[in-house]
Amino acid sequence: MADGWHSWLAPGRARRLAERVGTPLYAYSGPVLRNRCRALTRAFPDAGLRYAMKANANPTLLRVVRSMGLGVDTVSPWEVQLALECGHRKNDIVYSGSNPSDDDLRAVHRAGVLLNLDSISALRRYGRMFPGSRVSVRLNLEVGGGHHPHVITAGPDSKFGLAAEDLPEARAVAARFGLRIVGLHQHIGSGIFDPALFLEAFDPLLALTSVLPDLETVDAGGGFGVPYRPDESPLDLAALGAAVTDRFAALNKGRKKPLRLLLEPGRYVVAEAGVLLTTVTTLKRTRDRLFIGVDSGMHHLIRPALYQSYHPVAMIPERDGAPLRSFIVGPICESGDVLAEERMLPMPDEGDLVVIGNAGAYGFAMASHYNLRARPAEVLFDGPGKVSLIRAREGYRDVIRRRDLRPKR
Ligand SMILES: Cc1ncc(COP(=O)(O)O)c(C=O)c1O
Repeated sequence: MADGWHSWLAPGRARRLAERVGTPLYAYSGPVLRNRCRALTRAFPDAGLRYAMKANANPTLLRVVRSMGLGVDTVSPWEVQLALECGHRKNDIVYSGSNPSDDDLRAVHRAGVLLNLDSISALRRYGRMFPGSRVSVRLNLEVGGGHHPHVITAGPDSKFGLAAEDLPEARAVAARFGLRIVGLHQHIGSGIFDPALFLEAFDPLLALTSVLPDLETVDAGGGFGVPYRPDESPLDLAALGAAVTDRFAALNKGRKKPLRLLLEPGRYVVAEAGVLLTTVTTLKRTRDRLFIGVDSGMHHLIRPALYQSYHPVAMIPERDGAPLRSFIVGPICESGDVLAEERMLPMPDEGDLVVIGNAGAYGFAMASHYNLRARPAEVLFDGPGKVSLIRAREGYRDVIRRRDLRPKR
């Protein structure tokens, strides 16, 4: 793909970056990020796009996304706060948090952001606290999908969403507190490649719009897949966009007050715009494996450990030699601390670089301080010669945050 990281992170540039900023490091491409936003606005010209910032909440990237006309989808009060601080307007923010506490409901309401609520409990509590408010309802219409069971967010066993048969009770609770149900929402899962699956869930959602007289928006969630493996083909976003746009136009045809379609892509916006750059620290050969130890691991990119996800890798420099059955592993005390497994790679040298590709989504966002290790720094490439540090490398005090560890006077 023209936007692949090789197009913006040539080996020489990666080496200079590693020398200047150090590794481990997340690096992002502004042009790729903008291209992804453009592809979405082209495919869904009439929709309100709400970038699911859980995929990557770096403030600089949130500003780039805003400059491209996208709003945000949030799942916690601090995501709402950060989005507002990055210039997103409250009307362009939605909240789809799961199992919200009363404090969550209060904070998001105070920010003036529309909430997608997905339990009778949350509706009742919200109604009691803020009678007469506008609210949106998240449904689970039993069609789910995604790249791994952990990310399928609809279906009979899912914690997310209200079943269609719960809608009358939701309406009754709303009526009791004077809540106006102005939105219908669903999100069926993440990493979906088949437009037919998305439409299979979209159609019954549209069918339910007729029972809600105050409706203004229909939010069909995110979930658009991006290829990680070399044999995966990209989602046909244009075809999906055309089908969704046609169906929505048909729905609006007879309506006095047209509905607005909202979508919440996360992965599609940022995954291919980012890489994780690491350095080989340790080489170890066992009888039938080469362990390539690097200065990053599951604490920085948990997707391979959590979902058995595949990320493409590239070695810098590319060495000659017989390919060996290689496992790229980190410094964390877990056997699951693997970034890539079963790759056929020639023996590198300690000090070489390893680029882990397509790491812009659910990479830094899911990073932790496990084993008391710092999270990576982040940089943005934004045109020739324009490289900026968009998150500084953490130090001991960032990780420890002990109040009793004040500097001595
Ligand atoms: C409610 C909601 N919307 C949107 C998304 C974004 O999904 P994706 O990154 O697959 O587009 C998620 C992801 O978990 C979600 O929970």
